[in-house]
Amino acid sequence: MESSLTWKLRLFDCLSVPTLILKPNRIVVDVNTSFLEKFKTDIKQVVGNACHDFFYNSATPCPLENCGLAQVLADRQGHSVLRYMTTDAGEKWDNRVFSPILDAAGEVLYIVECIHDVTQLKLLERELSGAKDFTQKLIQSSTTAIIAADCRGKIVTMNPAAEELTGYSLKEAQEKITTKNLYPPGQAREIMKNLRDESLGGKGKLHLSRVTIVNAQGEEIPVELTAAIIYEGDQEAATVGLFNDLREKLKHEQSMRELLRRIYRAEKMASLGHLAAGVAHEINNPLTGIIFYSDSLLNTLEKDDPRRRSLTHIYEDAKRCGKIIKNLLAYSRQETPHTEILHVNTLLEHSLGLIRDAKFFMGIQIRKELSEDIILIQGDRDQLGQVIVNLVMNAVDAMDQKGTLTLRTYRHKPAQKAYIEVADTGRGIPKKNLPLIFDPFFTTKAPGKGTGLGLSTAYGIIKENKGHIWVKETSGKGTTFAVEFPLYQPSAP
Ligand SMILES: Nc1ncnc2c1ncn2[C@@H]1O[C@H](COP(=O)(O)OP(=O)(O)O)[C@@H](O)[C@H]1O
Ligand SMILES: [Mg+2]
Repeated sequence: MESSLTWKLRLFDCLSVPTLILKPNRIVVDVNTSFLEKFKTDIKQVVGNACHDFFYNSATPCPLENCGLAQVLADRQGHSVLRYMTTDAGEKWDNRVFSPILDAAGEVLYIVECIHDVTQLKLLERELSGAKDFTQKLIQSSTTAIIAADCRGKIVTMNPAAEELTGYSLKEAQEKITTKNLYPPGQAREIMKNLRDESLGGKGKLHLSRVTIVNAQGEEIPVELTAAIIYEGDQEAATVGLFNDLREKLKHEQSMRELLRRIYRAEKMASLGHLAAGVAHEINNPLTGIIFYSDSLLNTLEKDDPRRRSLTHIYEDAKRCGKIIKNLLAYSRQETPHTEILHVNTLLEHSLGLIRDAKFFMGIQIRKELSEDIILIQGDRDQLGQVIVNLVMNAVDAMDQKGTLTLRTYRHKPAQKAYIEVADTGRGIPKKNLPLIFDPFFTTKAPGKGTGLGLSTAYGIIKENKGHIWVKETSGKGTTFAVEFPLYQPSAP
């Protein structure tokens, strides 16, 4: 049987880790075979030399923080140090593990130094951290808002774009909210359900869906969301969401739709206007005849003649037709406007004066909120008067002989605009009718009561006068129509 010493010597030599045995004075007393192979040296070059001399060609020991041997001597315990070197073959990292061999008295007799090459590990580590840095930079600079949360919804990270979108700083988000607070009630749960649904982008993935988020100020923001669950094994570990703000896009789409509707309306009005003008001209002559002859006939009849009733009907209905025709002609802009400078308050009073029939306003309170400034605009008094009359008549029609009719004038000096508003406390305009009310012949009134030409005529006239007309407000509590004009600008003398 071999002695235990021989075993120990063989063990020393067959260790695949290069190993030295040193005396406390740093002189190498032995090295194993792996050491000789690794450092391509023979035993005579090493043994008997100081370690700093062999490894670093230095006459003095390494500083304490780099010298595992000195650390072992200080506390008689094992220590390891990481050493970095550049060699002809490139960079090299060693993890050097120093262990004491103690004598019976507990003093350090020898130090064993094992040299583990950790170069591969270190290079990999560096590569990984480089990749991590890169990913981090990518996330930080992305204009898409990115938010990651753990499986309980606690925010783990978010990039600056997400901070801007949500109005929370990362710290606030981590401390104050979970992903649930980022959505209107119930929506977070819905999103998680969709994420796990295999038919929507695959399990753990959610492709582009339109959702609403709620920012720190409580505002709802429409966004496009792409989301994913991050799995560890088959466990859900985290979720990540990519959000794109849709506000700009939706605003753009809305103005495009508005533009198309305006073009459509303008075309419709132009063609209808053409037709209306033709018909109006054709009918005007025979109508003048009917009015003239029925009037003359009426004058020849006795006061109690039974035919008077029918004849009066003929006369009045023909007059009404005449009025419709006048409207049609105004609408198709067959009447040349007479432009003059008008004071909006006077225009309003003058228009109200046109509706002489006091019965018309019965039960309705008229409130005037007229500006004290002198607001001047330029336009055709009769045409604009007609617009106001139409708005006032509609307002009264909507109120069923009760409520308040408010007439308002004001101006916005910086924008150089004048405004007239006609507000009622009537039944309001249903949402579905709003896109139609300015269309010619659109009416919700009983036949004989409404022609559907009031607002379309108004629209045409206001356009002609370089203004705008729109429904500023409507609900079950009433409607406000607003008309905007450019302020009159006296040209410099
Ligand atoms: N102030 C208002 N309140 C409620 N509905 C209104 C108001 N003004 C207009 N409308 C709606 O718009 C329609 C079109 O108006 P208009 O062009 O003046 O035609 P008409 O008055 O002959 O019906 C009306 O029939 C009504 O449905
Ligand atoms: Mg009307």
